[in-house]
Amino acid sequence: MGKLLPGLVVSFINQKGGVGKSTLTMLFADYLHTIGKKEGLRVAVIDADDMQNSISRKRSREDESKNAYTIMNISSKDLPERMETLKSVYDIILVDLPGNMKQEGVATVYYLIDVAFIPLEPSELDVDSSMLFYDTYRSIIEYRKNEGYKTSVYGIFNRVNPNLLEFKDLYAKKDNLAFPFLNSFVKESRVKYQRNISTTEEVNTNTEEMQVWEDVLEKITSHLNK
Ligand SMILES: Nc1ncnc2c1ncn2[C@@H]1O[C@H](COP(=O)(O)OP(=O)(O)O)[C@@H](O)[C@H]1O
Ligand SMILES: [Mg+2]
Repeated sequence: MGKLLPGLVVSFINQKGGVGKSTLTMLFADYLHTIGKKEGLRVAVIDADDMQNSISRKRSREDESKNAYTIMNISSKDLPERMETLKSVYDIILVDLPGNMKQEGVATVYYLIDVAFIPLEPSELDVDSSMLFYDTYRSIIEYRKNEGYKTSVYGIFNRVNPNLLEFKDLYAKKDNLAFPFLNSFVKESRVKYQRNISTTEEVNTNTEEMQVWEDVLEKITSHLNK
């Protein structure tokens, strides 16, 4: 089967650690695998976080045969030179990066991201630090633009407790922030996202919590059509 997309680099990025970059990468990869299998969508997950290696530690080692899609350990240092090849083989390349830019190559990989999602917890503190992060990221978007490459960026609330006032407040104000946010979000769920994440699996797409992944995919698709 041929390739469906021109090889898009998608990444959940934020300089803050612990906001869910790796978790959301895995959840979205599961979703893509589930819905894209029939069409033959080729998804690669690149674990480029040398220190944490959250994804490969959680998944590839324990049972390779259970992994439904490709998970590769490629340091950010080596990723740029391999990206062209990856783009020619895969439709979507999901890159999991460390939070800080200190690791070699992270900054270079940022220049290769086509669609970025910025996960953050619904707190004033996280919103402020994500805005600071976006201020730095903006120059990369600008650089890409001058080179003829479009970048799409969306905020995504993670670990949400929908009943909390602080969330309701931030959600109501989200359209005034520096970058657009998804209307859907990922709820706080220790049971679902911390325990059961150790193998790649098919997900039940008929549940309310899939809305957010539908929206993420929709943003990726509209990036291509714009
Ligand atoms: N929606 C969620 N509900 C519950 N726990 C979560 C959720 N998202 C992330 N976590 C937990 O938060 C911690 C940090 O998440 P992680 O994805 O490793 O963040 P990052 O990659 O940004 O450093 C992990 O223990 C993860 O299981
Ligand atoms: Mg991580």
